[in-house]
Amino acid sequence: MIVPGSASQEVAAELAAELDEPLASVEYEWFADGETLVRVPETDDRAVVVASTVSSDAHVELLQLQDAARQRADEVVTVLPYMGYGRQDEAFAPGQPVSARAMARAISTGTDRVVTVNPHEEAVTGFFDVPCSSVDAAGRLAAPLPELSDPLFVSPDSGAIELAEAIRDAYGGGEADYFEKVRHSDTAVEIKPSDASTTGRDVVLIDDIIATGSTMSTAIAQLSGPDRVFVTCVHPMLAANARTKLANAGVNAVYGTDTIERAVSSVSVAPAIADAL
Ligand code: R5P
Repeated sequence: MIVPGSASQEVAAELAAELDEPLASVEYEWFADGETLVRVPETDDRAVVVASTVSSDAHVELLQLQDAARQRADEVVTVLPYMGYGRQDEAFAPGQPVSARAMARAISTGTDRVVTVNPHEEAVTGFFDVPCSSVDAAGRLAAPLPELSDPLFVSPDSGAIELAEAIRDAYGGGEADYFEKVRHSDTAVEIKPSDASTTGRDVVLIDDIIATGSTMSTAIAQLSGPDRVFVTCVHPMLAANARTKLANAGVNAVYGTDTIERAVSSVSVAPAIADAL
């Protein structure tokens, strides 16, 4: 039985349909003091909790869902379509936590197994105390693209070049490349373009996550005379005014997956998760 978190109801329903498994009618409650409560009215022998940890509240809700499911199911599997705090995968300054490890340890206490989608760094899967595997959904982002002319698939930093290659391969042709990025703060990034020509070409930018939109809007500003610009990402967090930043940067369309449920989440990762399960 699929047990959805409140922020992952769309992808959970898709997964239930994919696997032909029932979907638990979970009830969610929010109290005046800010605490949350869930009720999982039924489960099968295997409960698959599907919850993107898109906020601190979503983390707490996930722990509650696992605990409730554990009381009825023999096996609890946790699917994290999007794993929050994944980008703090090391202590970047003295005194900082490895937040991804702290979250992974907490999540491990309530489950037998974890499946996640495109973690920021694959090494994050090693932070869990139970088996954890990751699913690569980047190739699926090729599906909504229109027919492209002389396409360039480009990632805004070298770490995401594999995503650019995956979407290029899934599209079936084109050049893949990456820009160089230096981050100065949460919202200030500097991007150096590559040598690949962008003039008159359709450019498809891809990243694992769009958070503030600073990386993508700065990357778009480096393109010289492109024909059309498409922005794609696995995790469309699109915090604050990120979507507006992209529009003002001149993007033709934004495509993301349903690991985070937003207006641009036109691609479902459910089939890829179903394969992993
Ligand atoms: C960082 O390395 C990630 O891959 C993304 O590039 C980054 O998290 C995007 O953040 P933002 O949209 O805030 O620039």
